[in-house]
Amino acid sequence: MDPYKTIISCTNQKGGCAKTTTAVNLATSLAEGNPSMGIPPAKVLLIDLDPQGNASTSFGVDKRLDVPTVYDLLMQPSDGTLNVHDYLIGPDILTDEMQRAFKNMNQDSRIPPRLKVENLYLLPSNIRLSGAEIELATKLGRETRLREALAPVMDDFDHIIIDTPPSLGLLTINALAASNWILVPVQAEYYALEGMSQLMNSIRLIQKRVNNHLKLFGIAVTMYTPQSKLSAFVEGEVRKHFGEDVFQTVIPRLMSIAEAPKDGAPVVLLKKPTKRNKGSKQYWGLAKEAHQRILARRAEYGVNPESVLKREAIERGDPEHIWDDIED
Ligand SMILES: Nc1ncnc2c1ncn2[C@@H]1O[C@H](COP(=O)(O)OP(=O)(O)OP(=O)(O)O)[C@@H](O)[C@H]1O
Ligand SMILES: [Mg+2]
Repeated sequence: MDPYKTIISCTNQKGGCAKTTTAVNLATSLAEGNPSMGIPPAKVLLIDLDPQGNASTSFGVDKRLDVPTVYDLLMQPSDGTLNVHDYLIGPDILTDEMQRAFKNMNQDSRIPPRLKVENLYLLPSNIRLSGAEIELATKLGRETRLREALAPVMDDFDHIIIDTPPSLGLLTINALAASNWILVPVQAEYYALEGMSQLMNSIRLIQKRVNNHLKLFGIAVTMYTPQSKLSAFVEGEVRKHFGEDVFQTVIPRLMSIAEAPKDGAPVVLLKKPTKRNKGSKQYWGLAKEAHQRILARRAEYGVNPESVLKREAIERGDPEHIWDDIED
């Protein structure tokens, strides 16, 4: 696996710690970019690897049973010829779905002009994936099926972000086998700390047995209550143990973040990142830190590949859309 590839699994076996919310907002902001924050747009694939399908519904995508999903991709025979691109929901349909979901819930409101994506692709999931853990158990190469399925499209994206289920079962192992980075969201509450050592042991095991390229990308403190002494304590403990790995940006517990899935779009699109819209502002802040980390890690490995978007724009002959000044 190329060390510069940004394939990030958003993982924590603990349920409800904002894995999906973080994966969805990070994928969206890294894809769309933000010039004033120094985040260039990038071509991003978001993989929903959770049978709950929450990442898919975060964009208003209907979890219909008859659409091809990541399940079909994992279950293909080893000599299979499935083309990953046939399984992806591209930016145009994703935009339509978000706008339709927003209109359904807000019939009297105008669709915010910000509610669109240009560079984000989604590999959706639905409840059919819940059978995969058992079905995979008897299949050859059961831990590396996702990695194999993604291999042909690796160079088509700048970043791939994978939302994983709240367990360390075969689906999560497939995500970690296909990734080179792991991002761990930690909810600012007491029990969060207890699961961390188990998670770190599991990462070490995956590194040893399945994927020795896997490294910790960062730890994000989520659902932080500013007035709570407990939140401050948990953040302090996480920083004490994991130091620089912990992102400076902390995600507060806010209604705007909790309500975003109802409106069918990530908070980073629904709200401008202003002081008043703290949820959007903090997730954009996390994306900025993530982008800086990606650049730093690439520099560390001495590789600075051309962005896929830049490559595609040059091929199309419209390089004016490319933010050379930021990317370099
Ligand atoms: N910062 C936040 N403030 C308020 N609510 C939040 C915040 N982050 C996430 N939530 C809400 O908390 C719930 C759990 O979040 P999310 O689904 O992202 O967690 P998860 O780790 O993916 O859960 P699961 O383990 O079930 O996959 C959701 O209803 C989500 O909208
Ligand atoms: Mg989730």
